[in-house]
Amino acid sequence: MQIKACIFDLDGVIVDTAKYHYLAWKRLTDDLGIVFTESDNERLKGVSRMASLDIILQIGKVEVDISEKEEYARLKNSWYIDYINQMTPDEILPGALRFIRELKASNIRVALGSASKNTPLILERVRLNSVFDAVADGNNVHKAKPDPEVFLTAAGMVGVKPANCVVFEDAVAGIKAALNAGMKCVGIGSPEILTEAHIVVKGLDEMNLDRLHDMEKLFDNG
Ligand code: G6P
Ligand code: MG
Repeated sequence: MQIKACIFDLDGVIVDTAKYHYLAWKRLTDDLGIVFTESDNERLKGVSRMASLDIILQIGKVEVDISEKEEYARLKNSWYIDYINQMTPDEILPGALRFIRELKASNIRVALGSASKNTPLILERVRLNSVFDAVADGNNVHKAKPDPEVFLTAAGMVGVKPANCVVFEDAVAGIKAALNAGMKCVGIGSPEILTEAHIVVKGLDEMNLDRLHDMEKLFDNG
């Protein structure tokens, strides 16, 4: 295969916002008397806001009607926004910006594919808003990962066929979405969890152009 575009998930790949999601959900679960741990938070990675709330209510065995659910989601998001409004460019994960610049310098298209509706705000806060050639996020995509819509939209925006795209993802649902899109997928995190990814690295600091080209050969050999 020839890699013509790299598509990055945002949360957990470019920035670590999982901790802010956790703090905001924790505030809600404390109010509701639900025991919610950091390991429960792992289940929310890559999952949309409403689906995350469903999982939390299920953990707490709490049943609420739709208008209460909307209010809880609104509250959580307002607390989450308070945290991300404090973000600075220092919070870009190691290696991410360097790798993106290397890709762009060698004419590989760079896109973002995230479920988050807060993507524009986060990109602005960490000053990455003019770095990506295309951004597909919770505002222009409606089907949640593992549906491939977010990655197919990103690929379409940069005009590259799925077979020439590599996705970088930290969530199991996101890896499934990449595979469902017919793309190659590099997992970011632990190989024990991200078993379906073609290759797993610890973070983008392990990536460079040479490694990417080695991966091209590996992908071809299955
Ligand atoms: C990402 C995160 C999820 C989050 C989702 C929606 O996929 O990994 O934890 O729930 O985005 O984010 P939002 O900012 O729209 O609430
Ligand atoms: Mg993620």
